[in-house]
Amino acid sequence: MIEARGIGKFFSVVNDKGLAEGLTAVLNVSLAIPDGRIVSLVGPSGCGKSTFLEILAGLQAPSDGEIRIDGKLVLEPLPSTRREMEEYKRRYRFISPLANGVFRDRPKHDIAMIFQDYAVFPWMTAMQNIVFALKLRSAGKGRSERPSRARMAEKARFHLGRVGLAGAENKYPSQLSGGMRQRLALARALAVEPKIILMDEPFAAVDALAREKLQDDLLRLWGETLESPRPVIIVMVTHDVSEAVYLSDEVIVFSPCPGTIRNRIPVDIPRPRARTDPAGIELQERVFAMLQYDINQESEYTI
Ligand SMILES: Nc1ncnc2c1ncn2[C@@H]1O[C@H](COP(=O)(O)OP(=O)(O)OP(=O)(O)O)[C@@H](O)[C@H]1O
Ligand SMILES: [Mg+2]
Repeated sequence: MIEARGIGKFFSVVNDKGLAEGLTAVLNVSLAIPDGRIVSLVGPSGCGKSTFLEILAGLQAPSDGEIRIDGKLVLEPLPSTRREMEEYKRRYRFISPLANGVFRDRPKHDIAMIFQDYAVFPWMTAMQNIVFALKLRSAGKGRSERPSRARMAEKARFHLGRVGLAGAENKYPSQLSGGMRQRLALARALAVEPKIILMDEPFAAVDALAREKLQDDLLRLWGETLESPRPVIIVMVTHDVSEAVYLSDEVIVFSPCPGTIRNRIPVDIPRPRARTDPAGIELQERVFAMLQYDINQESEYTI
């Protein structure tokens, strides 16, 4: 279970006159996502989706609110008042709030994140990419709990096979197609057996056919975890409304910047779904109309 309570994110930026000004990227976002759900975040460009996803992952600290995963805090907000700062220093005995997440006791969460363009390391082969992720995961464990090199290689081979990349073990990402690279990223995310997979426009760079295949692969791999004691949660940012409706249990529509939740649209269509299902198409149109409305409103506002 992921719980976000009153998440806000404020950035200080320098404007064209060289003056500092504030920018609120995310404002008061609260939501709860139960285990085994797929949730998509859609919204206009620059509305804070990636920022929110990174806060979920604990890669950025929120300015307000908190994220809990199975009741455990991910990262707490940075101190914003002097009193909070004092309290913070006492607790973590460190020098600067910028060190947030470095010095503190970081709770370990089982999260895998797939970024759009930097999903895999180009200087490692497919196999090495996965083994490296497994090594990172086991780094904090005691010697006896760490899997052997042979065990890791075996696991990497298994996961490459699951996404249809058997035989591509020794290829570098540059030798793979865009769709294959995304499948490699997926294999790497799944290999560490996360409880949560966060994806930031994972399929944006591949052509329409490959994209549909990747979506079905994702659904199949996610479906397999539903039977297990650890049903995986997937949170995905996408600009593709049909993808959001096809994959998700719920589509969350963000407003233009500062990103707040504008609407939550449950998708109660049983799986396996047909892409041409009229109920799905109707939902797509609803989401699309909301996005269109916001974009039009925003352009009137800026003109
Ligand atoms: N580190 C940062 N410092 C200052 N401003 C930032 C920073 N990161 C993001 N922003 C600003 O926060 C806002 C939200 O950015 P974010 O990347 O979360 O948007 P997004 O919804 O993912 O957009 P897109 O759909 O184009 O990927 C933008 O206005 C962006 O300029
Ligand atoms: Mg983004």
